Amino acid sequence: MAAKLISDEIPKPEEVKPLNALEAIGLRRSIRWYEPNKPVEKWKIQAMLEAARMAPTAGNYNGTRAIVCYRDEDPDIWEYISDWSQITTQMAPVLIFWCYDMAAYDTQGQQLHDLMRTGALDKAHGWDYDRVAKMFPLPALLPDMILHRIAAIDLGKAIENAIITAVSLGLGTCLNGASGGARRNVKKYFNLPDTYVFCWMLTVGYPAESIDGGGARGRPPFETMFFERKVGNPFQRDERVVELLKQLKLIQPQGPLPGRLEEINRLTKRFGLGDEWLTDWELGPSQLNDLRVLKDTRPKLLSKEELERRIADVKDVTVEYQLKPTVKREELDRYRKERGISPED
Ligand SMILES: Cc1cc2nc3c(=O)[nH]c(=O)nc-3n(C[C@H](O)[C@H](O)[C@H](O)COP(=O)(O)O)c2cc1C
Repeated sequence: MAAKLISDEIPKPEEVKPLNALEAIGLRRSIRWYEPNKPVEKWKIQAMLEAARMAPTAGNYNGTRAIVCYRDEDPDIWEYISDWSQITTQMAPVLIFWCYDMAAYDTQGQQLHDLMRTGALDKAHGWDYDRVAKMFPLPALLPDMILHRIAAIDLGKAIENAIITAVSLGLGTCLNGASGGARRNVKKYFNLPDTYVFCWMLTVGYPAESIDGGGARGRPPFETMFFERKVGNPFQRDERVVELLKQLKLIQPQGPLPGRLEEINRLTKRFGLGDEWLTDWELGPSQLNDLRVLKDTRPKLLSKEELERRIADVKDVTVEYQLKPTVKREELDRYRKERGISPED
């Protein structure tokens, strides 16, 4: 069956209006609500993969691998993912399973020689054919833990390139972890060679929530993350630069933007989830930005009446697409039992 959720049209270059890198980085959110039936253009998926391929890798390791799947071809593909990602996965037209290949280390020396051949590496920097040939492949020198770390960091960079490309082209994405069982399933399902390490699944599609996800998410204070000269000496944030970057849209307004609770609950209804799935707590500003108020408090529950008042216009939303709410552990267990999926799967 050919996927209907993917379109083959290729635009003319002048018809594409990508966001620039700064704005795309600023606008990126983990998108958890997708237009389930809106096809994604295949060229955009290819663009994401092309961008992933261009990411830097340690010593030209090039171990990134990805398997692209289309939900309508593989309607049960979301079974392979852990509970908190279940409904996201049921909505997204495209899923990309990201892996790295430890076997790529075998040809890393050759890839470095290739950089010498093509003039990226030169003699002035100390590059020498025999020296490289002696050092590589790295598995002869380095413990597995280090090799996995290098490969995982490289994969992360490749994924981020793909994500920024997606945002720049109007798509939403969210990375998703997988439980141990899902990991085993993925290995069998995709026929992954033993040298492949599956890491993350990326949902891709057009956002059904606002593309800004109801505002930028909180982050710890800049000065606690970045330093000048030594740790403890914060890199001072210049407010004029903050202002400039706001204008350039790298820094965007913090969530929750007005109407976010209503938006989440409208989507909950639109996707056929019952009242018990309505978000019934008060939203408020992130506390992460300000260490003085940072405190892990339980969100304040809205009374039934207050919730009803807040989402009065959500009541009559027509169900457009039915999600299976398996996110609760007991529902997931029941679903898996019905489908004959064993706890070890
Ligand atoms: C490696 C990785 C795994 C993630 N796994 C999940 C996941 O399983 N489910 C989910 O809803 N979000 C997942 N996320 C999204 C993060 O929760 C999100 O990036 C973080 O809360 C910051 O929000 P933002 O991406 O919207 O800025 C993951 C993100 C990363 C980078």
